[in-house]
Amino acid sequence: MKKRVLSGIRATGRLHLGNYLGAVLGMVELQESGAYEAYYMVADLHTLTTPFEPGELQKQIREVVLDYLAAGIDPSKSTLFIQSQVPAHLDLAFLFSTTETVARMQHLPTFKEKVKEHPQDVTMALLNYPILMAADILAYKADLVPVGIDQEPHLEVAREVARKMNEKYNTRFPEPQRFATKGEYIPSLTGEGKMSKSVEGSFILLTDSLETVKERLAKVPTDSGKGEEVPTKGGVAVLMSLVEIFEGADKKKAYEKKYLGEGLRYSELKEELSKAIFKVIKPIQDKRRELEKNPAFVNKVLTEGSAKANELTQATLQEVKEGMGLL
Ligand code: TYM
Repeated sequence: MKKRVLSGIRATGRLHLGNYLGAVLGMVELQESGAYEAYYMVADLHTLTTPFEPGELQKQIREVVLDYLAAGIDPSKSTLFIQSQVPAHLDLAFLFSTTETVARMQHLPTFKEKVKEHPQDVTMALLNYPILMAADILAYKADLVPVGIDQEPHLEVAREVARKMNEKYNTRFPEPQRFATKGEYIPSLTGEGKMSKSVEGSFILLTDSLETVKERLAKVPTDSGKGEEVPTKGGVAVLMSLVEIFEGADKKKAYEKKYLGEGLRYSELKEELSKAIFKVIKPIQDKRRELEKNPAFVNKVLTEGSAKANELTQATLQEVKEGMGLL
């Protein structure tokens, strides 16, 4: 039997370069390897753990689905579905929540960050975020999870839940490992922290035009372009890491040499980098436009995907219920 892969992205609208390089590229790589049965979802339930707009949710789910398909998730090779269409995720989340303490969940760095961001909205759903994510992964008995490095604490919880369930209730869950890509941490364009949808000015979207990419890069803070050491923090470091990803290590070295020598002109660097980024996202945008014209195809993919996901996860739910004495 093939090993399984599962991953998901919250329904917060269009994807940015961090999502693409940290998660989607890994998903596509595992899909193309042919060695795994791949399950990829839109984590719409996780979107409800922080303030959200009910009227916007369907649109936001659709944006993620379109970006997934346009960026290379191939429904003939992977199963694509919407999390809330597969109710076993919620059943398992409740059953798994019996294995973890409130204190353990409160100490997770991801939880603490969200508390800082939304101090008025620290709900039970937010506290339960990692348990629902463990349910997403363990429902498929996935061995590998392609996600960015920020998700590692959540994977640790998923492994812990797997161990505890196996010890207490005789289930057979593998301990899922993260599948890392080279872009596992994409920094914010502001020069502080990571690229994130919730921080305005931090991201480039896969759907951005060349003009917009240029405008966004123009705002990255820089310096005089000359010095004794190339900065390892802030806007200049962000530009250098994007140059490395989109134009290669040699190009980055050449810029560094200029920085230490005659001086670096950021206007030129940003112009070239914008073009290099757009070259990667342009084919994704072309494919997306095609998909937008074919909603029936997209709907069919999702209906078939959730049917397949439901079948598999019901079997896991049955095993867990039996183990816990509910059946
Ligand atoms: P979300 O929506 O916050 O992020 C989606 C994916 O994008 C990655 N990512 C990044 N990678 C590199 N650099 C960045 N700046 C960057 N920003 C975001 C995230 O690591 C993630 O892989 N909890 C998940 C959603 C989820 C999930 C799951 C994932 C729900 N259930 C089960 C895997 C398995 C999340 O944070 O999504």
